[in-house]
Amino acid sequence: MELNYSPAPSRYNGSMPYRRVGRSGMVLPAISLGLWQNFGDIDSFANGRTMLRRAFDHGVTHFDLANNYGPPAGSAEENFARWMALDFRPHRDELVISSKAGWQMWSGPYGGPSGTRKHLIASCDQSLRRMGLDYVDIFYSHRVDPDTPLDETMGALAQLHRQGKTLYVGISSYSPELTRQAAAILAAENVPLFIHQPNYSMLNRTIENGLLDVLQDVGAGCIAFSPLAQGMLTSKYFDGVPDGARATLGTSLLMAMLSEANLSRIRTLNGIAETRGQTLAQMAIAWVLRDERVSSALIGARTVEQLDDTLHAVERMDFTPEELAEIDVYAKDGGVDLWKVSSGIVQAAK
Ligand SMILES: NC(=O)c1ccc[n+]([C@@H]2O[C@H](COP(=O)([O-])OP(=O)(O)OC[C@H]3O[C@@H](n4cnc5c(N)ncnc54)[C@H](OP(=O)(O)O)[C@@H]3O)[C@@H](O)[C@H]2O)c1
Repeated sequence: MELNYSPAPSRYNGSMPYRRVGRSGMVLPAISLGLWQNFGDIDSFANGRTMLRRAFDHGVTHFDLANNYGPPAGSAEENFARWMALDFRPHRDELVISSKAGWQMWSGPYGGPSGTRKHLIASCDQSLRRMGLDYVDIFYSHRVDPDTPLDETMGALAQLHRQGKTLYVGISSYSPELTRQAAAILAAENVPLFIHQPNYSMLNRTIENGLLDVLQDVGAGCIAFSPLAQGMLTSKYFDGVPDGARATLGTSLLMAMLSEANLSRIRTLNGIAETRGQTLAQMAIAWVLRDERVSSALIGARTVEQLDDTLHAVERMDFTPEELAEIDVYAKDGGVDLWKVSSGIVQAAK
């Protein structure tokens, strides 16, 4: 790999669309890259670096992190500091970098999982230190904490915003009702709820039952995570489970989802994508972006080849009503129920 990185001059040539985030003035790339998996200490540093460069060369200006990304937890942020120092420091102002807190992170009663002020403020400071940044662009409450009053969690986000440690605040996997309440609490502190990060794909449509409407009402944007359903919405599992695929990870639910019935539906979806002149991965990303309330599709990638494939999604984003109806037949009700159950939005909170 060449040591000195000069980003592609063509990166803002119009091929990557930038989409407005809610009623803010901000835009995000239609495709953003998350560092949840494949960027930790167990992964190849050189491969992570190549993927980040490739993404940025194609206009992906948003990298999404969290305190616990790795493994081990924290290592994705530490590695990101090194990639920043090596390649991206001169481009800091071209980047939107996010982090989150809410899940288990350190030992003792304050290390999580937690939505307390103590946990969020300390975790944000830790993330900034790990990444070598003065501020993040977006800081999220990663999950609803049923044991912490919403006022306290939102108060912590507002505090971080006032302190300039984050430019924008977001929430992830909150129900429609709690999203509305969170936005109201933040508004009372003169801090807009900037964005919500929910799970959304052809196989998991939970957010269509109210959340997207609430986001539109309160003026917040939406960044959809796991638009490929962690790799299910690709052709990779058609001939068995390839080495290194996420389904081989011990913690993965994917293996349980790889029934012949599910694979048969996904093969049909693949056929629809082929008719459109796309890969299934590309169609899956275009599909979550068909609703303009979704500002960005937040993808993952394990290889540069995967990234090269998915980034082409922006070349064919339109759908005919017939295509959408056909996709619904194979991916909506009667789709992958296990997925819906295992990754639905958290509904209950005190
Ligand atoms: N807020 C939250 O609670 C939350 C939760 C989950 C994720 N996220 C965010 O969302 C990001 C993306 O999540 P995700 O990784 O689950 O997204 P995803 O895009 O649904 O899945 C990415 C995986 O799909 C496979 N893949 C990607 N492109 C492919 C291609 N072109 N062909 C074949 N396979 C392909 C790879 O799996 P293999 O490794 O099997 O090859 C890759 O690791 C995370 O990094 C994180 O930033 C947030």
